[in-house]
Amino acid sequence: MTTATDATPVVPAKGLLRFITCGSVDDGKSTLLGRLLYDAGMVPDDQLAALGRDSRRQHAESGDALDFALLTDGLDAEREQGITIDVAYRYFHTARRSFIVADCPGHEQYTRNMATGASNAELAVVLVDARKGLLPQTRRHTYICGLLGIRQVVLAVNKMDLVGYDQAAYDAIVTQYRVLAERLGISQVQCLPVVAPEGDNVGSRSPRMPWYHGGTLLELLESADATPFQAEDFRMPVQWVNRPDQSFRGYAGTICGGRVACGDDIVVQPGVQTARVERIVAPAGDVEHAGTGQAVTLCLDREIDISRGDVIADAQRPAPVADQFTCHLLWLGDAALLPNRTYWLKVGTRTVNARVMAIKHKVDVNSQAKLAARHLDLNEVGYCTVGLDDAIAFEPYANNRTLGGFILVDRHSNATVACGMLDFALGRSANVHWQHVDIDKAVRGASKGQQPLCLWFTGLSGAGKSTVANLVERRLHALGYHTYLLDGDNVRHGINKDLGFTPEARVENIRRIAEVAHLMVDAGLIVLVSAISPYRSERRSARELFAQGEFLEVFVDAPLALCEQRDPKGLYRKARAGEIRNFTGIDAPYERPESADIHLLADGRRVEQLAEQVSERLLAEQGGNESVD
Ligand code: ADX
Repeated sequence: MTTATDATPVVPAKGLLRFITCGSVDDGKSTLLGRLLYDAGMVPDDQLAALGRDSRRQHAESGDALDFALLTDGLDAEREQGITIDVAYRYFHTARRSFIVADCPGHEQYTRNMATGASNAELAVVLVDARKGLLPQTRRHTYICGLLGIRQVVLAVNKMDLVGYDQAAYDAIVTQYRVLAERLGISQVQCLPVVAPEGDNVGSRSPRMPWYHGGTLLELLESADATPFQAEDFRMPVQWVNRPDQSFRGYAGTICGGRVACGDDIVVQPGVQTARVERIVAPAGDVEHAGTGQAVTLCLDREIDISRGDVIADAQRPAPVADQFTCHLLWLGDAALLPNRTYWLKVGTRTVNARVMAIKHKVDVNSQAKLAARHLDLNEVGYCTVGLDDAIAFEPYANNRTLGGFILVDRHSNATVACGMLDFALGRSANVHWQHVDIDKAVRGASKGQQPLCLWFTGLSGAGKSTVANLVERRLHALGYHTYLLDGDNVRHGINKDLGFTPEARVENIRRIAEVAHLMVDAGLIVLVSAISPYRSERRSARELFAQGEFLEVFVDAPLALCEQRDPKGLYRKARAGEIRNFTGIDAPYERPESADIHLLADGRRVEQLAEQVSERLLAEQGGNESVD
């Protein structure tokens, strides 16, 4: 494979262009890319000889014709072997410019890779087969390019030889594509007819299509506007606090917007502390100023508290700070996006807990129609509101890809499940403040002579959660404790009456129960929650609402067969008969706790014994904290 490392580095006259190639699987993408590298003179003699041999071996019938796809087909080989494919970046250059091309697999299942490639590119080469015209994949790729901020497209209509070099066929495709691009906000579209294997209009003008008067693909790429999007205001997400000894303290990161100079006033966001830049240390030594894309270490004139994830910004023009936004999300997870589930959101160098609060609509990528949605499946795009546990400094994606682009990560599997583009902050995010109250949880707990906490019973329907919780509450009550039992079934008669048993409804059910339990603990009570709460993710989110030691997860662990045999409400029977759908343990999952605080083996033991086990643990906790003040 030809890369810049094989070649003598050149000082590009026109700067670096980063572009992405997209197209449907058989549109000839590999061939076009291989031919482009060949025409750019980037295939050394030895590789060319090898290509000749390989081409003859693979296509004995076509004589000495070179199969350029073989130059770039590494990805296909990997795919066949089932190897995880990321994006292949290739470096090449001409006398006028150097290029980095992100070669992404065309299949729909690789949308994630396409998004990765597009997020770093200034231009996309979209390939279509002249015989087939625009395919769903063309629309989908163009849509994603637009979504990820690409404003320039070169449409290469390939295989013109197979339509007899017919201008009318070409014009029809171009007209259709221009309509699509305009609708998607792609302002600059250049089109050209090509025959990739023969190189017509790739590196040199085709004598077979005299009706085309534009530039070759290489010329279009050489003359394209490569100015990466330049956000004007100075922004640098802090990647690392560098403090080797007492004499030096610097903040390292890559500048993602604007410029900074020694003597500039900066603010550390999302906070409001300000300082002046004293030194800028670049890899080769101190510099007076630095700009977007440079990795530097900043030293400030005073000691302030800065950590990884903070954003150092121009003090006069700081970034907006908020904790609720609207955004576009491209869902990449195998499991669906569930609103109100907690994910990690990574933006710049910051990681923060986030929840999609609502899906305003999802977008049919082929027709751009807006559709109602309760969840998002793999490769779906939605316009959503998202809420964070902590405020962040951000920029709309259209202004700054680093501070406006984010990913969501599943907290259990660590898989990247979405990429997103922030749009704007919700007004309420800035207008609602936390109100201080003097009588707090500790005071309320003390006046009741107890340590408020939440006991969270989880387990299958019929496992005995409510029965055990009820006995524990009776025992506590008899001892004079102030308690409340929040039972899943009961709560579903009131505050959660609107919720059913789909995954998204259960996520919301548990979120609300956890919030109510949290308020009750804040009121000084010992709260017992009894709900199936089948998902680890939501039980974890519930725990995170509480202070250390204030939340005890009680796993009522009864075998499914036993629950089914007991079947106190006759629901298992109905579920088996297909009269109830999404029944936990039958056709809906139950994710067992991995490390419950109290594990009750409810395999037929008497419930009194189980209740005793919980009460003892609870009373020990209370005893250990008698001196609440
Ligand atoms: S949870 O999964 O969202 O935590 P929750 O504990 O509130 O469930 O409610 C479960 C109760 O609803 C069960 O005890 C059962 O009585 C009833 N129920 C009705 N339909 C279902 C179902 N499809 N799956 C589980 N429980 C159901």
